[in-house]
Amino acid sequence: MTLWTFQCLLTRFASHTAAAETAPNDFSALSSLKDTWKNTPPDWEGSDPCGDGWDGIKCTKSRVTSITLSGVGLTGQLTGDIGSLTELNILDLSYNKGLTGPLPASIGSLKMLNTLILVGCDFTGSIPDEIGNLRQLVYLSLNSNRFSGPIPRSIGNLSKLYWLDLADNQLDGIIPVSSGTNPGLDMLNHTKHFHFGKNKLTGNIPPELFSSDMALIHVLFESNQLSGSIPSTLGNVTTLEVVRLDNNSLTGRVPENLNNLNHVRELFLSNNKLSGPLPDLSKMNSLNYLDMSNNGFEQSDFPLWLTTLQSLTTIMMENTQLQGEVPSSLFSLANLQTVVLKNNELNGTLDVRTSKGGKLRRIDLQNNHISELKPQDEPSGVTIILVKNLICEDTEAADAAYCKIPQPNVSNPILQNNCQPISCNKPDQVSSPNCVCAYPYTGAFSFRAPSFSDLGNGTYFLILRDSLMKSFAAQLLPVDSVSLSNPTRDSYHYLILNLSVFPSSQEQFNRTGISSIGFLLSNQTFKPPKEFGPFVFKGDPYRYFEDNSESSKSLNMGIIIGAVVGGSVLLVLLVLAGVYAFCQKRRADRAIGQSNPFGRWDTKESNSGIPQLKATKKFSFQELQKCTKNFSRENDIGTGGYGKVYLGTLPSGQRIAIKRAQKESKQGQLEFKAEIELLSRVHHKNLVSLVGFCFEREEQMLVYEYVPKGSLKDAISGKSGIRLDWIRRLKVALGAARGLAYLHELADPPIIHRDIKSNNILLDERLNAKVSDFGLSKPMLDSEKDHITTQVKGTMGYLDPEYYMSQQLTEKSDVYSFGVLMLELITARKPIERGKYIVKLVRNAIDKSKELYGLHELVDSAIGLGSTLMGFEKFVDLAMSCLQEAGPDRPKMSDAVKEIESILLLAGSNPNAESASTSASFEELSKGSSHHPYGNDSFDCSTSTSKN
Ligand SMILES: *[C@@H]1O[C@H](CO)[C@@H](O)[C@H](O)[C@H]1NC(C)=O
Ligand SMILES: *[C@@H]1O[C@H](CO)[C@@H](O)[C@H](O)[C@H]1NC(C)=O
Ligand SMILES: *[C@@H]1O[C@H](CO)[C@@H](O)[C@H](O)[C@H]1NC(C)=O
Ligand SMILES: *[C@@H]1O[C@H](CO)[C@@H](O)[C@H](O)[C@H]1NC(C)=O
Ligand SMILES: *[C@@H]1O[C@H](CO)[C@@H](O)[C@H](O)[C@H]1NC(C)=O
Repeated sequence: MTLWTFQCLLTRFASHTAAAETAPNDFSALSSLKDTWKNTPPDWEGSDPCGDGWDGIKCTKSRVTSITLSGVGLTGQLTGDIGSLTELNILDLSYNKGLTGPLPASIGSLKMLNTLILVGCDFTGSIPDEIGNLRQLVYLSLNSNRFSGPIPRSIGNLSKLYWLDLADNQLDGIIPVSSGTNPGLDMLNHTKHFHFGKNKLTGNIPPELFSSDMALIHVLFESNQLSGSIPSTLGNVTTLEVVRLDNNSLTGRVPENLNNLNHVRELFLSNNKLSGPLPDLSKMNSLNYLDMSNNGFEQSDFPLWLTTLQSLTTIMMENTQLQGEVPSSLFSLANLQTVVLKNNELNGTLDVRTSKGGKLRRIDLQNNHISELKPQDEPSGVTIILVKNLICEDTEAADAAYCKIPQPNVSNPILQNNCQPISCNKPDQVSSPNCVCAYPYTGAFSFRAPSFSDLGNGTYFLILRDSLMKSFAAQLLPVDSVSLSNPTRDSYHYLILNLSVFPSSQEQFNRTGISSIGFLLSNQTFKPPKEFGPFVFKGDPYRYFEDNSESSKSLNMGIIIGAVVGGSVLLVLLVLAGVYAFCQKRRADRAIGQSNPFGRWDTKESNSGIPQLKATKKFSFQELQKCTKNFSRENDIGTGGYGKVYLGTLPSGQRIAIKRAQKESKQGQLEFKAEIELLSRVHHKNLVSLVGFCFEREEQMLVYEYVPKGSLKDAISGKSGIRLDWIRRLKVALGAARGLAYLHELADPPIIHRDIKSNNILLDERLNAKVSDFGLSKPMLDSEKDHITTQVKGTMGYLDPEYYMSQQLTEKSDVYSFGVLMLELITARKPIERGKYIVKLVRNAIDKSKELYGLHELVDSAIGLGSTLMGFEKFVDLAMSCLQEAGPDRPKMSDAVKEIESILLLAGSNPNAESASTSASFEELSKGSSHHPYGNDSFDCSTSTSKN
């Protein structure tokens, strides 16, 4: 018997292997890569990367669609095997300094690739022409490697490209433009970023490269060997915000029409051989940072138009043949921080008495002919340098501080901790800003064109730190805190800043954590405050993974068999019995998989990796039946347009709300799948999250987290017995706004909710708002960057009139609905009540000369009118701006978030504190209420009318 069983089992085992979830070609490609790389994650074992959820690998159906292995210390070459992964969407291998050798031509086979990030590795050789075959590519970052050779002209074929970063390599040759049938970079009319700095590019900047059809915002060509003159076509690209042409060999006159670029904030023309008159930039009124140093301009007086550019923080005009006096009105520019006018012929009096902004830090006029300074002493906080000027030849003045070169002022704003840093015992551990020892993830930002020059002002870094934390939090990354240190300007005028990111709850990050943080920083999900401008981040390899425990749980089945066959027969039999049971289970699973149209799509519980694709569980009908007591009446907690909603309790004790579609509202398989994919991408504490789904026996069910305190509508109407005072209402508005801002601005693709209303805002145990019901939500695909044309859906009263008329949906339609919601929060009226439209009612009643804008009559008495409603007027102002007729006039949700945060601060409450649970009596939600929060009673305006 034994031999026969043995053979049978082996056959079964083999067939199990063959039936692994991963497509065989993808598995073999990954295995070859694994064999050539060192330091692959220890869980890369076995033969089923998709089924076993290898670290850094994501699959859809059985195909590998994403590889994100940022900063995990990979070494070796990227071999041609990568070309077999033909369904790959995302490849991020950034910050693996040991990845070397050329980029294989087979990269061109990845026809579905939309994101290719190899920043901060050690790739060499030329960029293959085949890169031009990646027609889906949106994001291309090859910067900070050692690529050489020319920029392939085939890149011009990447018509969807948004981001092109080739900076900091050794690329040479010209910038290719199209001619005849040959493609070129001038064809990239969707690209916003040309980052080519720090290479060896030669030739002129082709005039054909630029046209008014382009969408460019950043043109960074600094530190190359470009020659010839600046093409006047650059002045046609009016979208530009940052232009760096410095450190080249450009000659000739600066074209006059650069003056048209009135969105440019940072302009660097320094260190070239430009000639002719100093350009007139008087219309560039967004300019913050201007550097024209070291050029061969004609001798001229100090340009007076400079004193009219109110946004200027920094003027660098060293060695530009300036003569005459520096106009004193220059120093009345309120934002001015730094003026460097070294090595010119400036004479007469330097009069800084008009300086009043308090922001001025440094005036460097070394080597000019200044003979007098007014006032006689430097204003405090300002460093003036007049070394090698007439005034310092005077023996009396020679001792003055301004006649000495100041010690370099190592400004190092340290962000204060609230605690005593502790000394850590383990080597390499660091005390975090919260004074806990841990192994931080480290790296350095280079900001390529910040708008400021005063590195001593810690406020900038505080804002940056907060926006980093927000970004990590929005992606649910396990980050405790970040610290920023050592801001310096390097010789390329980049602002370098060190970053340390500390893990929460553990001493170290795991690979998923590191790769996710790396991806957030390498693919620009993180957007720094606008003062910081374009950046690159270079991560250090992370060496502190807790591997011992990781590898033990993922031992290869093959190894077990191999190890055991040599042992005792009894053991063999035991193991085989185990394998047999395992086969049977897999067979059963497979049988389920076969009846499931999605295959084994996304059924893994832990689907770690890219943050936005988190666990979505596939429930069996039986499981849900069991946890709802066979869908008993007792568990029926509501009915909506979609069907019934049941409360269930999972074996873990977690309570869930199950939306069970009734026959009429069932969708096609594809739509259902698309909806789940969409829902499982969004994770934010102000959004009701999808726990799983069931698609079996002709059932379509969506399983959500259960949000116990019901809908905002019930709370406002008093139905659920919750009293919402002014602060709580502000917090609810903030929560809903944050959820929406996430959908619009951080979700990928961005999502428009389409049905924001008080029924769809749920309140949790602590009365935090959670936006629910994405039944009508729409992802914004790339092809639809601005709007989606679609059948009008939504709920009467909340519906954006502009959308209603044009049928063009933008995220501003949600902003409108949110405005209505804000009015509902203060009035507790339904949007349309007894034939009156709340928006009109409030708009007509507002009298700004009166307290509470004269709205006493309309304000909900439950809000606590006795107390002062701090910030009430601002809240109304914000609501009204959300309700502007024209979408573009309405704020973005992130701006609304900021405004509500400031209102909360004004009202004396910390916008970031969790809402406290009220001790006031809560009544449980009335069961079976027809307006249950999980019900979807939206309707299609084109076919029905309001039920409200
Ligand atoms: C971009 O270029 C393509 C082809 O060159 C052209 O069809 C398209 O209309 C252009 N788009 C814009 C916005 O100019
Ligand atoms: C672009 O700039 C060139 C040169 O300045 C000018 O002749 C041309 O008319 C401009 N084209 C457009 C479309 O503005
Ligand atoms: C400063 O230089 C200008 C131009 O060289 C000259 O005309 C003027 O007289 C000088 N002024 C003083 C105060 O030396
Ligand atoms: C520091 O920077 C912040 C942020 O831009 C600015 O608001 C503030 O006025 C600056 N402070 C000083 C003293 O320059
Ligand atoms: C990695 O860490 C995250 C957050 O700490 C955790 O949720 C996840 O399960 C971990 N992944 C693995 C493979 O251990």
